[in-house]
Amino acid sequence: MFRTLAKHVKNYKLASVLTPLFMVLEVIFETIIPLCMGWIVKYGIEGNDGAGDMDYILKMGGIMTVLVILAFISGILGAAFGSIASCGLGKNLRKDMYSNIQSFSFSNIDKFSTSGLITRLTTDVTNVQNAYQMLLRMAFRAPVSMIFALVMSFLVSVKIALIYLAAVIFLGIGLSIIMINARKYFSRVFEKYDDLNETIQENVNAIRVVKAFVREDYESEELKKAAGNIYKMFVKAENVVIWNSPLMQFTMFGTMLLISWVGAHLVVSHELDTGDLLTLFTYCLNILGNLMMLSFVFVMLTLSAASGRRIAEVLDEKTELENPPEPVYDVKDGSVEFKNVNFSYKKGTGKNVLNNINLNIKSGETIGIIGGTGSAKSSLVSLINRLYDVNEGEVLVGGLNVKEYDMESLRNQVSVVLQKNVLFAGSVLDNLRWGNPDATEEECIEACKLACADDFISAFPEGYNTKIEQGGTNVSGGQKQRICIARALLKKPKILIFDDSTSAVDTATDARIRKSLKEAIPGTTRFIIAQRISSVQDADRIIVMENGEVNGFGTHDELLANNAIYKEVFESQTGANADFDESKGGAN
Ligand SMILES: Nc1ncnc2c1ncn2[C@@H]1O[C@H](COP(=O)(O)OP(=O)(O)OP(=O)(O)O)[C@@H](O)[C@H]1O
Ligand SMILES: [Mg+2]
Repeated sequence: MFRTLAKHVKNYKLASVLTPLFMVLEVIFETIIPLCMGWIVKYGIEGNDGAGDMDYILKMGGIMTVLVILAFISGILGAAFGSIASCGLGKNLRKDMYSNIQSFSFSNIDKFSTSGLITRLTTDVTNVQNAYQMLLRMAFRAPVSMIFALVMSFLVSVKIALIYLAAVIFLGIGLSIIMINARKYFSRVFEKYDDLNETIQENVNAIRVVKAFVREDYESEELKKAAGNIYKMFVKAENVVIWNSPLMQFTMFGTMLLISWVGAHLVVSHELDTGDLLTLFTYCLNILGNLMMLSFVFVMLTLSAASGRRIAEVLDEKTELENPPEPVYDVKDGSVEFKNVNFSYKKGTGKNVLNNINLNIKSGETIGIIGGTGSAKSSLVSLINRLYDVNEGEVLVGGLNVKEYDMESLRNQVSVVLQKNVLFAGSVLDNLRWGNPDATEEECIEACKLACADDFISAFPEGYNTKIEQGGTNVSGGQKQRICIARALLKKPKILIFDDSTSAVDTATDARIRKSLKEAIPGTTRFIIAQRISSVQDADRIIVMENGEVNGFGTHDELLANNAIYKEVFESQTGANADFDESKGGAN
């Protein structure tokens, strides 16, 4: 994990080295200052046989002023480089995670939840960033400062330095106990945060569903519970951490008392002078303060370790679909062939979603696909533009295995209107140009006419420049589907796949779309997945899917004659309780 994260420091390596360097410089200057102070008392005030030496005091004062300024500048530079390095790391992590997510195949995406990815990109990166800054600034500074001060104290007076050493050990053990306990609670708090994020993300995203099912109270209650859990854990953690302060105070004042006592004896017996005692007092505060700081760095690091691990997971995830070394860029025609295809979403877990599929589809054919929910219709077509790879067998497009194509070229030639489709925030035109960024306005309008979307778009006050809200919430379900169809048409593909893409469109408009497509792009192979027989019955051939297998494949008449499932669906939809929305007419 650390290696993965460290790789992303990249162009901020220099800042990452300069930070601890300046911090250590600051420590060096700061450590000399108490020594000067001691000397001023010793040689300046008490020197010259008690008469004092003003020149010496002024000289030392001058040196101390310079030291203070140098320490100040080093501190500022250290802090500045620390911020540059840590914010830079944060930026790199976000950028690299994001671009890696973009390269994910569908099966990679299946592994992470959306809210999980968002938490990783936001909170987790912030945690790691803060920890990195702390690490650069304190992890070197504190120990160096402590050791420096300790060595200096030993040089001044071994006896008193020994008191420090004892205090350091005592405080070290105490803080370790506190921190180990606190860490336990804090890491639980972070887990609970994940839960909270997930709840909020899911519910805010699906707020309309929450409202439709009148689940607001229930959801608020859930949130209160999640927030309450975090509160409880935090209180527990803080209850442990709170001991830090008294422990620190106890050690500090205890040490001072001891130093004063021992020091006073030593001064009286002329083993030590007042100046040295003053120096030692300053070091005492220095050493103990740094120890406290170190304990915080330790907590911070252990806490952010979980975040780091979660970030590394995303960064280390390798896309499961790779372009071949010598990809083919051109798709010859729109023929599609499935040869003994087996497929499962989680490879090696036994159950196949698609079993032994053999299909041969000529370029330009219109293929209807019908079958119950979960019969693997969407899974079948997702193999044609290589959203997923088969487990066994081959899928051929234009006579070549899909794995031999450049993925981008293949997906430009095989255009899918996904079942779970989305529009993005932006104008209608922006959304259409997802299909083809270079499309002119005329081409966009042309595509919309084919998809029967031109009527309602032109009726909007701002026409094609109407703003679509994020997720397409300000257009109706059927309108959204038609914009999505137009978007797919703009790719001018050789193969066009509609996955339940007209389910929200009334049957009359549905028929009009099919008719206009048939006339406008006759050479394009079309796959139409639908629940309604009327959407597929005039296709050249129809695939009947059942439990991941092809149950029947033929024309409407053939299937009606010899496929039980098809016949049953047909009768249920054309019988007494048939297609009730037929009468609703075209407008919507
Ligand atoms: N991303 C996925 N990860 C794991 N399993 C999946 C995934 N997508 C679909 N499945 C499973 O694969 C099976 C086939 O699903 P598929 O979406 O292909 O059905 P479908 O025929 O398109 O259904 P519907 O008519 O409801 O759209 C289902 O059992 C489903 O649970
Ligand atoms: Mg489906």
